[in-house]
Amino acid sequence: MARINENYLKLKAGYLFPEIARRVKAFAEANPTAKIIRLGIGDVTEPLPEACIKAMKAAVEEMGVRETFRGYGPEQGYPWLREKIAIHDYQSRGCDISAEEIFVSDGSKCDTGNILDIFGDDNKIAVTDPVYPVYVDTNVMAGHTGKANEKGEYEGLVYLPITAENNFTAAIPEEKVDLIYLCFPNNPTGATATREHLQAWVDYARDNEAIILFDAAYEAFITEPSIPHSIYEIPGAKDCAIEFRSFSKNAGFTGTRCAFTVVPKNLKGKTRDGQQVDIWQLWYRRQSTKFNGVSYIVQRGAEAVYTEEGKAQVAALVKFYMENARIIREELTKAGLKVYGGVNAPYVWVKTPEGLSSWEFFDKLLQQAHVVGTPGAGFGAAGEGYLRLSAFNSRENVIEAMNRITSTFNFN
Ligand code: MLT
Repeated sequence: MARINENYLKLKAGYLFPEIARRVKAFAEANPTAKIIRLGIGDVTEPLPEACIKAMKAAVEEMGVRETFRGYGPEQGYPWLREKIAIHDYQSRGCDISAEEIFVSDGSKCDTGNILDIFGDDNKIAVTDPVYPVYVDTNVMAGHTGKANEKGEYEGLVYLPITAENNFTAAIPEEKVDLIYLCFPNNPTGATATREHLQAWVDYARDNEAIILFDAAYEAFITEPSIPHSIYEIPGAKDCAIEFRSFSKNAGFTGTRCAFTVVPKNLKGKTRDGQQVDIWQLWYRRQSTKFNGVSYIVQRGAEAVYTEEGKAQVAALVKFYMENARIIREELTKAGLKVYGGVNAPYVWVKTPEGLSSWEFFDKLLQQAHVVGTPGAGFGAAGEGYLRLSAFNSRENVIEAMNRITSTFNFN
């Protein structure tokens, strides 16, 4: 009989979001008339920007004509898309990133997991707690950890607590680590990092020859001008950071699939015997072997995000969701709950009331208000006592959800 990858057996029962979906399905089956409002998974609800639709339709037409038909595209993504990303997302912010350093992909979730292919098995890995579960689970799958303890913390990982006391930004570790996952604006807490905080991380990474895996999937939601959108706005970051970005949340591509990863040309790792190796070369080799690129049609859709029309439509989408975030924050605050985030991120991090655990509060909201959140404990031990609400929904649903929560419970 074929042997399995036993690391999978170390994983906690289910990936967080399918587990929530399972509980919600069970509730819906038992309560078929309940109108459930989902503010759990951060999945967009509003239609794609018109500019993207137009570009994708035109691309479909091209695919139907022999002269303009395309087969396999470049594994790294079409140069016209990478050029636009480099100019609009980086060079316009003073970041020295070229098209060659950009790898277009079908998602940041996949890329943050796949990136482990090019790193060794003996790195010391740091994650924040709470954390986007993909960073942890993919390391477990790759055999980079031992077993989980009763709190769900895996042996071998360095957990950096992010709490209200440290403004949800982790303290720089005392010990030496090799890979650090950072996500700003943060999923799940909605916190952001100042330029000074990111500079401290870059300095740490350079001093310790570590690499920062910087997930900036939510950068479009930053509203405060002083907050950096990219790690490459920080001097020295090109020597020590890989950045993940996505069209999922800003342009509504969660179902369309397009993202990109930036691997600077001068970023280095080393072999066991100390020889320096270009990380770019390894990622290029990995992608061209295991990935055939994002469809031409979708890349044309992503390219349209950078047109004047596209930029305005994306900005309107972001503004729409951030207004939802404002409503959630303000209504819950008025109702007596302590909330964080939701100012530069589409997530509101809510302190559970009355000493309820995350899952108790989740169940209470589901059963009594028919509103779905994400239990903070699902993001790590330090997320216990919190619940995340997503601003990705229609205005009507957000207002209705807030009315239900505030009229069902008295938190004061
Ligand atoms: C979330 O809810 O945390 C996100 O939807 C996860 C993701 O983008 O994969």
